[in-house]
Amino acid sequence: MSPATAPSSPYSSRIVGTGSAFPHRRLTNDELAAKIDSSDEWIRERTGIAERRISDPSNPAEYNSSLGLEAALKALEMAGKKPEDIDQILYATCSGDTIIPSTACWLQSKLGATKAWAVDLNAACSGFLYALSTADMFIRSGQSRTVLVVGAEVLSANVNWEDRTSCILFGDGAGAAIVERAPADSSSRILSSHLESDGSLWELLLIPAGGTKAPVTHEGLDQHQNKIQMKGKEVFKVAVRTLADFAVRAVESNGLKVSDIDWFVPHQANLRIIEAVANRLDFPMEKVLVNVDRYGNTSSATVPTMLDEAVRDGRIRPGQLVLMDVFGAGLTYGSVLVRW
Ligand code: UT7
Repeated sequence: MSPATAPSSPYSSRIVGTGSAFPHRRLTNDELAAKIDSSDEWIRERTGIAERRISDPSNPAEYNSSLGLEAALKALEMAGKKPEDIDQILYATCSGDTIIPSTACWLQSKLGATKAWAVDLNAACSGFLYALSTADMFIRSGQSRTVLVVGAEVLSANVNWEDRTSCILFGDGAGAAIVERAPADSSSRILSSHLESDGSLWELLLIPAGGTKAPVTHEGLDQHQNKIQMKGKEVFKVAVRTLADFAVRAVESNGLKVSDIDWFVPHQANLRIIEAVANRLDFPMEKVLVNVDRYGNTSSATVPTMLDEAVRDGRIRPGQLVLMDVFGAGLTYGSVLVRW
């Protein structure tokens, strides 16, 4: 799907505020390696991850919706807006507070966004870009003026901490963006989004039990059927290919070259994946934004937390071209190109 080629609208959308939040607890590789047969050296070499943040399930301030709330409040403050200004909340997550109500509704209640309608969106690690693209569509259609887009996860609850091939990767966190209506010819705007999924690859990354297809049983719990199962090597290969492909689609559909991009913000799953993609694109690592070393793979939160960090420390500046690029369970893929 390419809004770059969609019928014209008098509106475009632009990101006017970002925010992020992480739980307090740092889990270092050494601490993790003491519980599984691994080492700090192996994890750093194979993933680039040094530590990750883990939510305390007994602390309500670290529920998924609470991290989302902290990120949303920071984004609102940057945008100079109030909760009542929001008319839509799109909450990307695959590790929400409850199945019903949606985590978006928990957030709406905590935030006091009384004029908004709120919904969760699950595209796993690709969720933030799916939600951002959806926000762009609602704004360009004229239906929404101000949309809060959140990507937030407490995946530590869904990780099998005895599986050394997957537990080393994941962490918790939340990122948010305020997206607002702008004139179609605004310099700062979302230029295009490309989304795609391939459901036939479901087996590469899944949580088998806990849905209606396979409710959790005592036996299933013993076998960790309610936790993440991943074919890491296969995911790695698809990730490198599709991230490179979606980066090229984004720039070419806008008549640009990869070298025109000021900042590349890929999904943060493994530094080796990111480096392999940069290598394929012949793109310098100095212009690739990376936080996987400090937070691990926070799924739908990787891109918005990274954006927020780079906006706040002044790396991302108005007028720059920022290319976001993701993949996730499903499998799902996508890229969004923004002129900041
Ligand atoms: O949002 C999407 C999330 N998922 C991903 O992006 C996953 C992408 N895949 C990856 O990041 C990598 O495939 C992993 C980090 C999961 C694994 O790295 P790898 O370089 O592909 O390792 P491997 O699976 O080829 O395993 C190499 C060796 C194996 O031992 P043998 O068979 O060579 O003796 C594994 O058993 O490393 C072993 N191994 C470990 N050793 C120490 C696997 N996990 C660990 C570990 N510590 N944590």
